[in-house]
Amino acid sequence: MDCITFMAENYVGKELTSLRMKNIDWSSLSFQYIKTDYNVRCYYRGGKWGELETSTSEEVSIHMAATGLHYGQQAFEGLKAFKGKDEKIRIFRVADNAKRLHDSAEEILMAPVPEELFTKAVLKAVELNKDFVPPYESGASLYIRPVLYGTGPKIGVGPADEYLFMVFVMPVGPYFKAGFKPTNMMIARKYDRAAPLGTGKVKVGGNYAASLRASHAAHKGGYSAVLFLDSKEKKYIDECGPANFFGIKNNTYVTPKSESILPSITNKSLIQLAEDMGLKTERRAVLLEELETFEEAGACGTAAVISPIAQIDDVEVGKSYVFAKDGVPGPISEKLYNKLRAIQYGDEPDVHGWVTLLE
Ligand code: PLP
Ligand code: COI
Repeated sequence: MDCITFMAENYVGKELTSLRMKNIDWSSLSFQYIKTDYNVRCYYRGGKWGELETSTSEEVSIHMAATGLHYGQQAFEGLKAFKGKDEKIRIFRVADNAKRLHDSAEEILMAPVPEELFTKAVLKAVELNKDFVPPYESGASLYIRPVLYGTGPKIGVGPADEYLFMVFVMPVGPYFKAGFKPTNMMIARKYDRAAPLGTGKVKVGGNYAASLRASHAAHKGGYSAVLFLDSKEKKYIDECGPANFFGIKNNTYVTPKSESILPSITNKSLIQLAEDMGLKTERRAVLLEELETFEEAGACGTAAVISPIAQIDDVEVGKSYVFAKDGVPGPISEKLYNKLRAIQYGDEPDVHGWVTLLE
């Protein structure tokens, strides 16, 4: 591209950005796709990763026989950037997301993205779109979506030789419409999200495809999400749609240990914060019946943050577990929520080294 065309495109791009940004009502954002200005891309070809490229296009051109399209060779991540009172932009636990994408890639034989490349791509995508990081007062954030998939053609079932790693971003509000208000969830015994020795512990697209019918049924029934039980025995709690489950009782934070749930970075952070607050913490198998004993329950994740659970209905069995009768989150969930958000927005010191500042 010649210099004049580049300047002209950039100028038009900037004008569009400011026009679009004028129309964003930051405090009423929901969790949905919004176009931002740039995304970053990196191709794996000939056995190595290339240079990070910047793109203004929302499209990708992909071979029709790409393994990402046919055989589910695809994984993604989700993390967030926050603007503080000091106007600084903080990205939460980027190294943990890099590690998880690495694990996902290895699980389904994709070329892993080195941590350094992952971090560089995330920082660049945020930097290029920094005008889209919502203002502090709005309580919204910038959602960052790294994605990796097989682009190389293959028609016999097997891993591709070529991959595309890209990162795009968008400003978002709460994942669950209710925000930090208790909602009802549903157990759907008819559906499994992940097989006991399958891919449930990594963030691959196939797990989400497998969860669609269950979450559709839940939404149709007026529930915010599905609580999945373990697929083998339907005796233990696995996780809540796109979030981990936690329960609180006797000053203890309890969360399921299972080989078929995603190791949530938010959950790991909450365990640490609960310990900092003097709570006991337990990560162990959680029997469904134990729901009766929890004083508070919630779903946690990057998109969900903490979504308190009001009630869980085991619809096929006709039994309900109630946690919040009056529509108010439990006191420990609220304390954890406030603490986590305070660190993310830079209101409290980052004593655990979770935050990367965008310089
Ligand atoms: N479980 C599933 C299935 C998810 O999709 C997510 C979202 O990433 C989580 C749990 C929460 O994980 P994290 O806190 O790392 O976002
Ligand atoms: C996240 O919390 O980042 C997720 O990936 C959840 C999602 C699938 C919307």
